[in-house]
Amino acid sequence: MQHIPVLLKETIESLNLSPGKFIVDGTLNGGGHAREIIKEIMPGGKFLGIDLDDEILTNSQSELEKEFHQFRGDLIFRNGNYKDVSQIISENKLPKVDGIILDLGFSSFHIEESQRGFSFNRDELLDMRYDQSSGITASQMVNGFSEKDLADIIWEFGEERFSRRIAKAIVTSRRKKKISTSMELAEIIKNSVPLFYRRSRINPATKTFQALRITINDELGNLDMFLKNVAKIMNHNGRLSIISFHSIEDRMVKNYFNSFKKEGVAKIIFKKPVIASDQELSSNAKSRSAKLRVVEFL
Ligand SMILES: C[S@@+](CC[C@H](N)C(=O)[O-])C[C@H]1O[C@@H](n2cnc3c(N)ncnc32)[C@H](O)[C@@H]1O
Repeated sequence: MQHIPVLLKETIESLNLSPGKFIVDGTLNGGGHAREIIKEIMPGGKFLGIDLDDEILTNSQSELEKEFHQFRGDLIFRNGNYKDVSQIISENKLPKVDGIILDLGFSSFHIEESQRGFSFNRDELLDMRYDQSSGITASQMVNGFSEKDLADIIWEFGEERFSRRIAKAIVTSRRKKKISTSMELAEIIKNSVPLFYRRSRINPATKTFQALRITINDELGNLDMFLKNVAKIMNHNGRLSIISFHSIEDRMVKNYFNSFKKEGVAKIIFKKPVIASDQELSSNAKSRSAKLRVVEFL
């Protein structure tokens, strides 16, 4: 299934694109946003696409290089972490940046195709890493972390009110048998929560799966490190547009943007985050929780 880019028109407009600009997409995925960016900045522009997932980066690079073969020399692709963007820029002797987009989190590829246990609706080995070359897997985490640590993670990064019950059930279950698949974990979670919660509109495993994914991929640590350093690489009038999908990320983006404003480093473009239109909401469920915030560096 193709990943449908969220807030596409709004994000493209927010970047203030024109031919000749140097734009970075730090979360390239299938290039839903990248395609529109490249069309607007060529000829004369430069584009850097980064993705932590090697499989995704390789596929996207070959598709985009084919589609925009006439500009191939100005398209740069790197498998890496957006938190290291300033290093990637200096290694490749690239100029100051006119615009960066981050569209955070995972993509349809991870759910539908990766077979890494991102979905509670599929029976796959519990891995959940974007970067397959390092870090610990979701299976190592649920089978190895203490009950307290699991409960804290599920509470903090999933904002799951039944975090303690869920952590207890995980630990009880793993004593009998190692938890290996996404479906096994989803079943343990389902059986640990009250009946009304089991019957609610969203799957009771949703928040726990989110918490595990965020922790395994250090999603908040990456965002924090990126925001701490981004001002150094931005050009005068450069725009930074970030789409987030849950309140913890959005809060972090909002707080950093407010401090940029206070320090006189950047101005905030929209006071309130941009959210999806009714039309987009009806055609793409993922857009429901998307929030776009934009700043312009001075
Ligand atoms: C929501 S998708 C981006 C979708 C993209 N804008 C599009 O329209 O196709 C997020 C992507 O970011 C990647 N990703 C997640 N964390 C990352 C990180 N720290 N550095 C680089 N890429 C990351 C994921 O592998 C995924 O491909």
